[in-house]
Amino acid sequence: MSVIKISPVKVTTHVLQEMKVKGEKIAMLTAYDYSFAKLLDEAGMEVILVGDSASNVMAGHRTTLPITLNEMIYHASSVVRGIKRALVVVDLPFGTYQGNSKEALNSAIRIMKESGADAVKLEGGSEIIESVDRILSAGIPIMGHLGLTPQSINKFGTYTVRATEEKEANKLLEDAHLLENAGCFSLVLEKIPAKLGQKVAKEIKVPIIGIGAGKWVDGQVLVLHDMLGITTQFSPRFLRRYHNLSEEIKGAVSSYIHDIKSLDFPNEREQY
Ligand code: KIV
Repeated sequence: MSVIKISPVKVTTHVLQEMKVKGEKIAMLTAYDYSFAKLLDEAGMEVILVGDSASNVMAGHRTTLPITLNEMIYHASSVVRGIKRALVVVDLPFGTYQGNSKEALNSAIRIMKESGADAVKLEGGSEIIESVDRILSAGIPIMGHLGLTPQSINKFGTYTVRATEEKEANKLLEDAHLLENAGCFSLVLEKIPAKLGQKVAKEIKVPIIGIGAGKWVDGQVLVLHDMLGITTQFSPRFLRRYHNLSEEIKGAVSSYIHDIKSLDFPNEREQY
């Protein structure tokens, strides 16, 4: 495996823009706590997303809908304490920005003030544009999120690939332009055809980060617990697993149980 040279420079929205212009791919992963965030930052991750997927992988909910603003702020401030270099983006949770731009601004301000994060992420296009405008006018950077937007799962009904039909693909492209023109610094595209991902990344000047959006976009994001194999019940085609940590953790824990029960732990050197 080749060694990656990590620039010591703090990653900003401008650095990401320069990377897009130079054709350098952007690496992004989720994190929800101090210890993992520190490891990701030290390994050279450019963007860390405190995703509302915390609702699934941290809290065990079936969807991302139940997580609250206070819970997101708790996760985000833990992550920020572990970071020296990466850009930290935090999801605005469901129900804190849709339909009321004043509430959206208050939610974004609370995240920025109480966690120290660098930016927020919102799901949706034209439906949430008032909230986007209001948050941006307060100087808070926004990453958009189009395609499969998990906060709308009850509307979609399934987690299948989005925008396979022309009408939905055209709406996605229009929304991408709308968000870019409003001033979003980047967009996430989730679970859409690779050709559409390529078209959006070509037409839109800000960095496009994909999760199941093919290889022609400007960067990739995965959920940390999925790519490390901590979660196992979820195996979409776009998910590459880099480890099988669930088996390793269970193996380590059963060795510990075994050592206690067999009086092997602690031994002479492990006691005072
Ligand atoms: O919450 C999350 O983890 C996300 C990613 C899937 C992009 O929004």
